[in-house]
Order: sequence, then structure tokens, then C-alpha cells
Amino acid sequence: MNGRIDIVSIFPDYLAPLSLSLVGKAREQGLLTIDVHDLRRWTQDRHRTVDDTPFGGGAGMVMRADVWGQALDEVLARSDGARTVLVPTHAGEPFTQSVAEELALLLSAGGELAIACGRYEGIDARVGEYYNAQPEVTVREVSIGDYVLGGGEAAALVITEAVARLLPGVLGNPDSLVEESHGSAGLLEYPVYTKPQVWRGLRVPEVLLSGDHSRIARWRRRRSVDRTAQRRQDLIAAHGSAHIRTARSADAEAVAEVAARTFALACPPEMPAGDVEAFVQKNLGADSFRRYLRDRRRHVLVAEVADAIVGYTMLVRQEAEDAHVRELVGAASAELSKCYVLADFHGHAVAAALVHQTLELARKYGHESVWLGVNQANERAQRFYRKQGFTRAGERTFAVGNRTEHDYVMTRTLQGA
Ligand code: 6GU
Repeated sequence: MNGRIDIVSIFPDYLAPLSLSLVGKAREQGLLTIDVHDLRRWTQDRHRTVDDTPFGGGAGMVMRADVWGQALDEVLARSDGARTVLVPTHAGEPFTQSVAEELALLLSAGGELAIACGRYEGIDARVGEYYNAQPEVTVREVSIGDYVLGGGEAAALVITEAVARLLPGVLGNPDSLVEESHGSAGLLEYPVYTKPQVWRGLRVPEVLLSGDHSRIARWRRRRSVDRTAQRRQDLIAAHGSAHIRTARSADAEAVAEVAARTFALACPPEMPAGDVEAFVQKNLGADSFRRYLRDRRRHVLVAEVADAIVGYTMLVRQEAEDAHVRELVGAASAELSKCYVLADFHGHAVAAALVHQTLELARKYGHESVWLGVNQANERAQRFYRKQGFTRAGERTFAVGNRTEHDYVMTRTLQGA
């Protein structure tokens, strides 16, 4: 059954675009009925007045309840059953994809949506109160974003398009509903590319030409999560805590990518980029991780947010190679060799969860303590490890390229880890 949308406004021409494109086509195909009404039709006086000064004083004008009452009585009488009156206002609840989905459901069940476009300082508050008290009528004040518009018409266009495209039969390919931003996983959509393969010297990412569908899916997921973390920390927070699990051999590439992106952050700023790169190539590439993942004395844990790896730790369960370190920490100590989390996920308790699980693992393996080396210049990391119960046991030197780096050695005993 197809539903109807009635839009009431003092600028009905503002809604002319609803004859175009996707919504226009849906109307032509009879998938949706939209009627736009001029509010002034329901005025009684010679000047067709719709507004008046606010009780209590203040700037601007308020739309009159009596005019809106006449209009909504008539519009809502055109259907029976479930009806929703939407009032667009910057003071409303956020209009989100899930509100759009609810409204599409209402319409596809043959329900009615009325959109009351206010202008000036808004509509007399009794209008919403009155209609919301009517059986089978729900009034919702909604905002399309944190900015102020001159009236509800532009918002009515936005809302109508967002709802209409969710109606059965409106979109050519309903799969795009599943993949799109906000549609399913609460992530922003990954970037997309089409021909030509090279445009003004810019190439399409190689993975998209590989034909390897699982690699492509992983790449897209990675880009979605990165983009969401860069632009919408609120959506990342809504995913809740990271999921920590043991890495498997198929994770080697993804872990290496996180390593490459995070190792530089842990190095002192004066370290030459070439040295950092060479170190990453030699010790933190996918092949290195494939080796680490096969090595029974090493245990790699990964943290996932929305199925993308955003951090990892590596526990090394063998005596420290460096005799000086061995002397400092003892033979029964395991090394927390790496704890790296992508910068956009710092402050989400990802690193703390990783370290906690890694310590738990070391304790289960019977180690008395865990040690780590942290660059003396990396105060942020030192603060973090102190917070995780590590204390400074001494110093060591550490070679990256031709440079000798100075680390602190920190340890933590595992009683009650
Ligand atoms: Cl839905 N209406 C109006 N008038 N202003 C807005 C809005 C809506 N959303 C943000 N600003």
C-alpha cells in the first residue's frame, strides 16, 4: 500500500523540486503521493495573516495556532489510521536515518505523513500539544542539523527525499540501501572510483583492480573505519569498546599496516624518516608478522572496531636477548614488545583493553612479570604504561638505523593482573 505526504507551507513553490529526480519519478510511478498546500488557504482575514507577536515579548513573530488548526484538521482528515505530523525546527530531535526508516515504514503501511513548515520564530506550541493528544496522531519536532534555517521548507525537502528513497520500488538497486553510510554498520562510506584508471596522474588504488574480493572488502572496511574515525568520533564511540582477539595468519597484512602507521608516532621527532621506514620494512612488514604469527613464543593480540584492526600488542615469551635487560627484569619476565593503536583511536580505551588482555595472557602462561622498552622521548606512552601499572626499572639502548635510541625499561608484576 502506498502512503501519502502532505506538506503545508506559506511558500508552496519552495517544494517544486519534489517533482524532479528520484522523488518525482516515485510520484509518477504511483509509489508515493505528495500534496503541497498553501497555509494561507486556511486564513480567515482579508490580509491572510498567519502570524502574530509572541506572548511574553521578544523578537520576531509566531505562527498562529488557529490557522494551523484549520489546516491540520483538514489535511489529517484525508486519511485514517496512523498519522505522523512532522514539525521541522532547529529545536527538534535529530532527524536521523533511523527516523527516516520509521517514517518509510509508516508510509509503506499506508500511513500518512504531514509536514508542517513553520517560518519566523516557529508555530504556537499548543498546535503540537493538541494534535499529539489525538488518537493515532504522533507529532514529532525534528531538526536536520545543528544550524538555523529560515523555515521548515528546505528541511521538508531533505526529509521527503530521505524517506522516499527507502520506499519499496523507489531505488533501482536496493543493495545500495544496505551498503551506504548510516545504512547498516554506523560507519561512513568508503571512497569510490570509476574510469579512467589514471586521471591527472592520480591512480585508482591498486587493490580495487585486483579482482580479489575479500581483499577489496577488507580495504573498503578499513577506509570506512578510518574515515569515520577522522570525521565522526561520535559514531566510533557508539560502537562501544574494541573487540580483542588473538591474531591469525590472515591478519598479517592488516596488522603490518597498523604497525607501519603507528611506529613512526612512537619515535622521537628528530629520527630520520628513512630510518623509521627501513625499520618498519625490516621488522614490521607483512612477512615479519607472518613469521611472528607462526612463532609459538610470540602471541599477537589485535583490537577491532567494526571488524577493522585498529591496534595490536605482541607478547614475546622468551628471555630478553639483551643481557642488561635480562639482568634488570629477570628470566621469568615476558616482553610486551609492541602496543600500538592508530592515533584516531587513542582515548577510546583500546590500548588499555589490549594491555589488560595481554597481561592476563602472560599470567596464564605463568610469567611473573611483563617488561617493555619505551623511548625516553615518548612521554605519552610512558604515562600510559604507568597507568597500566608499569614502573621504571632502568634504561637500555636500542638501534634504529644508525642511531642509538634510549629507552626506559618498565616492568609490571602479574599478581592480580
Ligand atoms: Cl528541521 N527546521 C528549521 N527551521 N531550521 C532547522 C532545521 C529544521 N534543522 C536545522 N535547522
